[in-house]
Amino acid sequence: MSQVFPSSAAKAAATGAGAVLSIRDLHLSFASRDARGAVRHARVLNGVDLDVGPGRIVGLIGETGAGKSMTATATIGLLPASAEVKGKIFFEATDLLTLRGAALDKVRGARIGFVAQNPRAALEPVTRVGDQLVRLIQAHSSLSTSAARQRAIEILAAVGIPDPQARYRAYPHELSGGMAQRVVIAMALVNQPQLVIADEPTTGLDVTVQAQVLDLLQQLVRAQGAASLIITHDLGIVAQYCDDMAIMFAGRVVERGPVTQVFADPRHPYTRRLIAASRARIGNALTNLKSDPPDLYRQTTACLYADRCEQVQPVCQSAPLERSCSTAAPEHRVLCHLTQIS
Ligand SMILES: Nc1ncnc2c1ncn2[C@@H]1O[C@H](COP(=O)(O)OP(=O)(O)O)[C@@H](O)[C@H]1O
Ligand SMILES: [Mg+2]
Repeated sequence: MSQVFPSSAAKAAATGAGAVLSIRDLHLSFASRDARGAVRHARVLNGVDLDVGPGRIVGLIGETGAGKSMTATATIGLLPASAEVKGKIFFEATDLLTLRGAALDKVRGARIGFVAQNPRAALEPVTRVGDQLVRLIQAHSSLSTSAARQRAIEILAAVGIPDPQARYRAYPHELSGGMAQRVVIAMALVNQPQLVIADEPTTGLDVTVQAQVLDLLQQLVRAQGAASLIITHDLGIVAQYCDDMAIMFAGRVVERGPVTQVFADPRHPYTRRLIAASRARIGNALTNLKSDPPDLYRQTTACLYADRCEQVQPVCQSAPLERSCSTAAPEHRVLCHLTQIS
């Protein structure tokens, strides 16, 4: 697999020292009407801050409903029209929230690869998977059809699809769920994007294929100074494959930083509970910690974790600000009134 993404120093240099993806104060809500006809807003994202640096893989974790998929969907520009968005999503120097139509299409598929949480929906049902890959390759390069075919077969093999020549001619409905998922991952990686966003990409794949897919992603990131945001429920994947991690709760990132730092010295009470639960090997830490989801319609500036927090204090009824946990590791940041800065 070593030649699938040949190292490209020029491409790495072009990404510069700044973050590849930088999300700032992202808010997202959906308006609806209550039983009496009054407009109300479901506040799904409440000021997300997140960075993905060049050459880095960031693991985004948090329980179901925390807003992980909506953060990814906003970044790739696929939100439903009813969504109300505020904030900035910088991809290199461009605010993606300002792009529309052809300008957005140019970025998507070539410079940003996306693996949606429901990968099968990303495949066109009436086109052979190989032809979908070739079309995607040729939309963003000048490769001849035979060279693009070769490339398509190569990437199908690289994501662990046995007999890629035969699978090239298959229609999506002829593929198993795991196979379709690998085809979508191949589509996200084939144009060697600067940024790969993958929403629970390996859920349901067996451990061998999971490792193969994540190794390939890691290879793309390392060889080309690309970057990746992986949404996962699995702290094991975060520990093994990610450089940085971000923990989301109720539409905000409550803690983020280098993986080794966060595991060694978790600061937010929610992060501490997550890590303790996963260390105690009680199965899926996120599922086991689940209690009532926060009320999306509630209007408050209080810390949204206060209702669940074992250490809650009166100060938690005021708005927390994100800050560095220590002067020695300024990139480890937490959103909690109770953190002692060291
Ligand atoms: N179209 C929509 N209208 C109203 N609420 C929505 C819509 N789409 C998603 N949500 C809500 O947004 C919240 C966050 O969803 P999501 O980002 O999918 O969470 P996660 O991926 O972390 O499980 C959920 O509570 C979900 O019900
Ligand atoms: Mg999701």
